[in-house]
Amino acid sequence: MASNGFKQAPHKLLVIPGPIEFSDEVLYANATPGTSHVSPAFVPVFGDCLRMLKTVLYAEKGEGNQAMLIAGSGTLGWDSVGANLIERGDDALVLNTGYFGDSFADCLETYGAKVTQVKAAIGGIPSDDQLVEALKSKKFKVVTITHVDTSTGVLSPAAHFCDLIKKHSPDTLIVLDAVCSVASEEIRFDDWGLDVVVSATQKGLGTPPGLSVCMLSGRAVKTFETRKTPAQSYYIGWHKWLPIMRAYEAGKPMYFATPPVQLVYALHASLTAITKSSPSLEERFAKHKAASKFVKDSLASLGCDFVPLSRDIAANGMTAVKYPRGLQATDVLPKLAERDIVVAGGLHKAIASEYFRVGHMGITVVDEQRGDITKVVDGIKQVVGGH
Ligand SMILES: Cc1ncc(COP(=O)(O)O)c(C=O)c1O
Repeated sequence: MASNGFKQAPHKLLVIPGPIEFSDEVLYANATPGTSHVSPAFVPVFGDCLRMLKTVLYAEKGEGNQAMLIAGSGTLGWDSVGANLIERGDDALVLNTGYFGDSFADCLETYGAKVTQVKAAIGGIPSDDQLVEALKSKKFKVVTITHVDTSTGVLSPAAHFCDLIKKHSPDTLIVLDAVCSVASEEIRFDDWGLDVVVSATQKGLGTPPGLSVCMLSGRAVKTFETRKTPAQSYYIGWHKWLPIMRAYEAGKPMYFATPPVQLVYALHASLTAITKSSPSLEERFAKHKAASKFVKDSLASLGCDFVPLSRDIAANGMTAVKYPRGLQATDVLPKLAERDIVVAGGLHKAIASEYFRVGHMGITVVDEQRGDITKVVDGIKQVVGGH
């Protein structure tokens, strides 16, 4: 959709690891006039979003795959997994690479899961031996992987972990928390054998916050359908939402709870840009890698260290970077803000004061003409280099 001449107000450059900068087209779509959620105009827009999500996640082949869009934030995806796949007493394995692993575990316990956590050292990932040993210790109903833990900037080798899980525990459902990786890191839902991807709109998908994004495999749906006890939620129950998503995809309206119509239009604009225009999806991922390398190389040349213990497990959509030479948050973040650059402080409790986080996702990376990446790197050089 064209932005019809609409231009968003001047503002500081938002380069936290989500929410990110939004394009004028996406924000203009978010200003769609009042439209019925069951109108012939809206139904195909919703259906297209579900189909385009399958494209972004390479989930077009798997029989019974179902995308879901439900009003809520990324956290609602955890509840979706807990309420629909966990029955009281089920064992769940959480591969923990930071704050968001702790929270996912907490959420699953809320639904009665017995959670085992494989915790990596800060900045690291669980070793193969740790994972295999855990998988051999009991029969887990689900295993969760945080693809990018936004608190540490660690990128888990999801494809490799999926291989190990398939080999040692083929019946275990694999859940990927991709809130901070969808559309900035490659995710191959079908090829990796994923069962659930949970995400949200405000990061790589370049759309204002407010929609929980999920992809379910046929196997996840079947596991839900053969539960012994009813799902532990009304609003997030898949028995409520599966018929709705299937109906919209088939071009028919159906009501359970009102979707955020305008936000769905905004997501449609962003997904259209991501899946149907230049750069291609593959080029988009390559651009995120290149931008990440440029940011990390530039920061390293200032003497900065990173939270991830090595480059091969560092996210491409964000950088978690330590303050150099005894500097702290108050020396850096306000000075960047004075230069109209908004980055985020540390989040992992154990090291929160030692590092800050820079997001490089979406149009900030893909639309090079904006000059966002240069602005951020130059800003950090001035602030950090000036000390
Ligand atoms: C990896 C990860 N999982 C889950 C969440 C929770 O998402 P939300 O804040 O949209 O509820 C976040 C938020 O940043 C995240 O980064």
